Amino acid sequence: DQEKTLDGKTVLITAGPTYEALDPVRFIGNHSSGKMGFSLAEEAAKRGAKVILISGPSSQTIHRGNIDLHRITSAKEMLEKVFQFYDKIDIGIASAAVADYAPKEIAKEKIKKNEDQLTLELVKNPDILKTMGEKKTHQFLVGFALETQNEEENAKAKLEKKNLDMIVLNSLRDEGAGFKNDTNKIRIFTRTGKKEFDLKSKDEVAKDILDFVEHQLLK
Ligand code: C5P
Repeated sequence: DQEKTLDGKTVLITAGPTYEALDPVRFIGNHSSGKMGFSLAEEAAKRGAKVILISGPSSQTIHRGNIDLHRITSAKEMLEKVFQFYDKIDIGIASAAVADYAPKEIAKEKIKKNEDQLTLELVKNPDILKTMGEKKTHQFLVGFALETQNEEENAKAKLEKKNLDMIVLNSLRDEGAGFKNDTNKIRIFTRTGKKEFDLKSKDEVAKDILDFVEHQLLK
């Protein structure tokens, strides 16, 4: 029998990539599958939470009733959707791989291949999680970090910079971790602590993350 350890809690999760349109048929995106976020949503729902899942384009589907799924496309749309709910949530988990930049202008018509060279002008997207951190009143905020070098220092710096309570580090150096894989190998950091986990399925990783969150909330 599943214990309803998150009963009465509202959990918002961002998942998947964002797509930033270049013209009516093209976009800038990334290979995020959305699996980690969807696994987190399923597990939080199993534990009795009210779950708001905000996902960029992903082929993942949900299997439970108490997940409120909102599908968006761009970082701007994700930001808007998050802040429709932000005041009412207890826990925010940002597992989305948000595009850092978006085209400055979206061409109205399909861009023609006339030029030998084409320069795209990009502008920085809003940092959704950082904005959540700035507006934090009571929410427990969890971020993800995918690093290739100085992993721990970078992860801890992000925890501070984005005003988070917890950050989950997945290293691209670990075989089978991150992004497209069905498995993940994580390290969790809080302001004061650290815990390292083995390589596991993303469903199992979701359990570890939520166990850790619950433990922090009880402190
Ligand atoms: O700064 P960096 O992109 O490495 O931070 C990763 C964390 O911040 C992830 O939790 C990701 O979901 C979140 N993020 C965000 N909006 C952005 C960029 C990152 O919410 N524009």
